[in-house]
Parts: sequence; structure tokens; C-alpha cells
Amino acid sequence: MKHHFDIFTKPIPRRSFLKGMLGVFAVGSMGVGRGYANTSSSNIRLERVTITIQNLPPAFQGFKIGLLSDLHSSPIVPKEHLQSSAELLMAAEPDMIALTGDFIGHTFRFPGEPYHEFDPQYVADIVDAFSGLKAPHGLYGVLGNHDFWSGPEAVEVLVREFETGFGVQWLRNRNVKVERGGDSIMLAGIDDYWQDSCSPGDALQGLPPDTVRILLSHNPEVNEILYDWQEIDLILSGHTHGGQIKLPFIGAPFQAGVRQRKYMEGLAWDGDRQTYVTRGVGHLVVPIRFLCPPEVTLITLV
Ligand SMILES: [Fe+2]
Repeated sequence: MKHHFDIFTKPIPRRSFLKGMLGVFAVGSMGVGRGYANTSSSNIRLERVTITIQNLPPAFQGFKIGLLSDLHSSPIVPKEHLQSSAELLMAAEPDMIALTGDFIGHTFRFPGEPYHEFDPQYVADIVDAFSGLKAPHGLYGVLGNHDFWSGPEAVEVLVREFETGFGVQWLRNRNVKVERGGDSIMLAGIDDYWQDSCSPGDALQGLPPDTVRILLSHNPEVNEILYDWQEIDLILSGHTHGGQIKLPFIGAPFQAGVRQRKYMEGLAWDGDRQTYVTRGVGHLVVPIRFLCPPEVTLITLV
């Protein structure tokens, strides 16, 4: 069963939203004043993460996956910021690149509101910013809630322009084999967990046994509907922005799109299954991050 809560996400009552945002603005203005706005391109951090996978085939020892998520190309996230994230990742020489959604859109969606207004310029911006992304084992993408909330036309344009612009292979409820030096692993991807079109069953169908399986899912809480028999080794996600705004000693005051805090940022465990959640590159609603800098991730499998 799917659950929808809190701010970055599903419709919330407008009054609670406004109260929350007052707090955000108060913290935000403090942050800007102290230079902790954290949204400038120079604040983007390259997080190098080593993840141990049981039975990783020898040819994939040291395989490097670049992860970019939550770009939110929009009036508040300029093309230059997106371009900086791409350059930072390329300098780390990933073997493969995973893009885990929320490429466009920058506002919440209140109950009963229609899709976000779609401006193709912001797709053009991100395609331009990402034109230098290349990796020997390819670029793979899944869509996030904000991409879907931008409407069917936005999804169509995004999918087409990412394919023709810089060669993204979309994993919309399907899987592919990634081969290297005679070995292989399986890579699957799903449409955003909150969409009716999300289908882990289709995404994981036909996977050969005894193969390492990696799943791209914008929302880490897809873990709620995965069972042991599906034997996913690793999920790569974004969606939370790490909270986007954190307070000293308290951490992120908002649940940021997930019910379980273990999925807010970094590595989480469900049995043997690991999920890595990146803080992402862009931001929502206000051009402010506080004690929560934007992230580009380089994951090394061992
Ligand atoms: Fe999201």
C-alpha cells in the first residue's frame, strides 16, 4: 500500500504548508546572511561512497556509478548549477551514470491542483547542461514525482530530449544487462513510486537467478513493497534532498517526502538490501539549502 505524507510530496493542507514555510524563510534568511545558503554551484559536494555487494562478479570490482538526482531545472535552479554538477561527476570518471528523477519542477502541488505549468525551456536547459555526460557503460534514467507532476507533455518531451540530447536509456519498469569483461549485472528501474505507472513487477521480471541486481527508484520508500524473493542488492534513490534544510542538533525538520527517517540521506538497510539516497543537486520552492549542500555521488562497488 502506498502512503503519501508531508512536504516535498503529496498535497498537504495549505495552512500547515504556510506555517512551515515561515520557518523555512526564517532559517533561510539566517543562512543566506551567514553564507550557508548552500545552493551555489561552488557548494556542490562530490560524495565518494564505497558499497559492498555480496557475490559481485570480479569484472565489476571497483565499478564506479555516477549518481545525479533531483535537478529541478527551473527558474530557481539555473543551468550553470546543473552544468557544474555534470562537470564534477565527469571529473570523477564514472563507468556508468544513473539519473534518478525530478529533472524539472520546483513547487509543491496542493490538493486538487492541476499539473505544474510546463515550460520546455527548462528541459532544454538541463539537456544542454548535461550534454557532456558520458560513460563507457552508458547513462540510465528514471522519472521522479515532479516530472510526472509537470504533466504528460512534459514527460514526453523529457524522455525524447534526454534520449536524443545525451543518450539516456530510460528504465521505465524494465531491466537491462550491464556487461563488463565477460561478467554481467542487472540494472532495473521503475516509474516514480507514487505514480500508478510504477511497476516493480515489470521492472524485475525475467531477471536471471544469482545475478547482482541494482534498482533505480526515485523514491527510496519503494522498499515498502519489495519482498525478499526479489533479492535486490542495491537501490539508488534521491527525492528527499536530504531534507534540504537542516537545523543544528535537530537535523531536518521536515520529513522531506519519506515516512522513515532512515531514508533521508545516505545508506539505509532493509535486511541485506542496501539503499543509497543522495541529497541531490537542485532544490524546491526556495533557492535555499541549509547545512545540507547539494550532492553529486560516485558509488564504487566492491
Ligand atoms: Fe521527488
